[in-house]
Amino acid sequence: MGAAFIVLEGLDGCGKSTQAKALVHRLEQAGHAVLHTREPGGTPVGERIRGILLDRTLGEIDPRCEVFLYQAARAQIASAVIRPALEAGTSVVCERWHYATMAYQTAAHDGAAAGAPAEMVSETAAWATAGTEPDRAILLELPDTERDQRMGADLDRIEARGSTYRQRVGAVYRRIFEGDPERFRIVSAEGTIEAVHERVWEAVHDLV
Ligand SMILES: Nc1ncnc2c1ncn2[C@@H]1O[C@H](COP(=O)(O)OP(=O)(O)OP(=O)(O)O)[C@@H](O)[C@H]1O
Ligand SMILES: [Mg+2]
Repeated sequence: MGAAFIVLEGLDGCGKSTQAKALVHRLEQAGHAVLHTREPGGTPVGERIRGILLDRTLGEIDPRCEVFLYQAARAQIASAVIRPALEAGTSVVCERWHYATMAYQTAAHDGAAAGAPAEMVSETAAWATAGTEPDRAILLELPDTERDQRMGADLDRIEARGSTYRQRVGAVYRRIFEGDPERFRIVSAEGTIEAVHERVWEAVHDLV
């Protein structure tokens, strides 16, 4: 097989980090070279940008500024980490991709009543990533009640926007992931870590 670029998406606390770790482990056990990364972040520049984006003490960030910050971090990880890895034959498991910006930044919230225009998000994403698209992107879906149980009370700037915003974000995610069935899979994040992992594996194993 060639190297695969796999993305895990979903709302905060749905289990992306947990499942990325399990998937990377499974791929490694199967003998594949794998890189586990996340965005925003995954590079020194990207981690600084992540710090700005998640810092509640900075207050609301202008919605246009926010879109560019996400795309900026993404441009850096695409060019400095993801493409070089794939070219070297290493598969990449990445937590979030530009679908997250489409979902979170086009959905309206109190600090930006209208949300960013979808066409601006897709155009800036295309330029930032230079067209680097995952072979498979998985949306982990978890009911709100279950999510709250897992998350506890320690909310970051985005999570603090509340449940109506979260529902809007979830709806945009779903619309995206109901597209191209070759690239996208929607996976239930309910149940034990092992049960979810088996569903995730089922959704990617044909690639490897
Ligand atoms: N299947 C599961 N059952 C119970 N708890 C889980 C399960 N999967 C993950 N968790 C727990 O839920 C919390 C959130 O999981 P995780 O950090 O993997 O989510 P995430 O999507 O990466 O969140 P974030 O968007 O905040 O990075 C963690 O405390 C994790 O240990
Ligand atoms: Mg995480």
